[in-house]
Amino acid sequence: MQREHKEIISAEDRTTWAVTGPAILTPRERGSDQAAASMVRTLFDRPRWLEPCHLYDEKGSLLFEDICELPEYYPTRTEAAILEREAGALMSLAPVECIVELGAGFSKKTVHILKALTNARGRGTFAPVDVSNTALMASKRMAEELFPELAFTGIEARFEDAITSITREIPKLVVFLGSTIGNFTPTDMLHFFSHLTENMGPEDYLLLGVDRIKDPAIIEPAYDDSRGTTAAFILNGFHNVNRVTGANFRLEKIAFRSRYNHKRAQVEMCGIARETHKVEFPRQSASFVWEKDEAILMETSRKFDPEDLQVQLRCFGLETLGHWTDPEQWFSLLLFRRNAPSAESP
Ligand code: TRP
Repeated sequence: MQREHKEIISAEDRTTWAVTGPAILTPRERGSDQAAASMVRTLFDRPRWLEPCHLYDEKGSLLFEDICELPEYYPTRTEAAILEREAGALMSLAPVECIVELGAGFSKKTVHILKALTNARGRGTFAPVDVSNTALMASKRMAEELFPELAFTGIEARFEDAITSITREIPKLVVFLGSTIGNFTPTDMLHFFSHLTENMGPEDYLLLGVDRIKDPAIIEPAYDDSRGTTAAFILNGFHNVNRVTGANFRLEKIAFRSRYNHKRAQVEMCGIARETHKVEFPRQSASFVWEKDEAILMETSRKFDPEDLQVQLRCFGLETLGHWTDPEQWFSLLLFRRNAPSAESP
């Protein structure tokens, strides 16, 4: 069983991964120390900020599933409708048997792709990657119930660890949905694509789902809903920081603010101090004074022009094979193949 799951990991990296839960792989040396270090690094930066993966502890993963079902949150249902319509077409353009999904969450939308995979090939592998064990277990239940003919291996890891270690020997479709790419800072996004394309084999494909630039009146409520689920999700991020680092963020002293920044075409979601107070990190023997009205940037969600994005990605050696959108052109699904990088038009 152990060997079977580890087939998704390159031979030279297999010893650095462990099979933990049923069918879940984790990197051996990654632990809460690394998570704490990554939190403290950015919280002591100016402006203070947090990497997006830290929002997805158990409660965060569940709250995010709630966000996806909010009436104001259009991306999930828009992307799911495109996938439902186009999954067959995209699986015939990407003739692989292995699906690696980055930031899979509960993999609800991925059902359409897995259905097309089993229809076309009758077998295959599904390997979702997520920092949340809760999310991977939900994916596993879904996959076992709906697609017993597929092999399942969950990868509980940060994207960079998974991307480095996944084998190049098996041709695969890397699926990255939900406009999660828009949650990276611009520099982190570029690093992500260099790292990903360096580690992709010649027969690998990438399916990318991105939210498009549109009227802010549509975008804003999606990231500041009337029920306060988004606010609860962001505030839970502070709770997770306390749990992982031992800090003492006091949730009652933090207000949620969400704004669309036109110039940067991104939503910026922050925690704002309601009053000046000290936040302590006893394990690091460190503290900072959080000034009234100072923002800690908890998440950005960038919006994209799919044409510009394709020009950028061509410079990473990603050639577009397909581009699908919805009737209102709110969301784009892009399929790429790995090619030699080029700054010239094809
Ligand atoms: N990838 C999602 C997006 O950018 C993440 C997201 C949706 C999110 N709603 C959020 C992140 C609210 C933080 C807060 O749309």
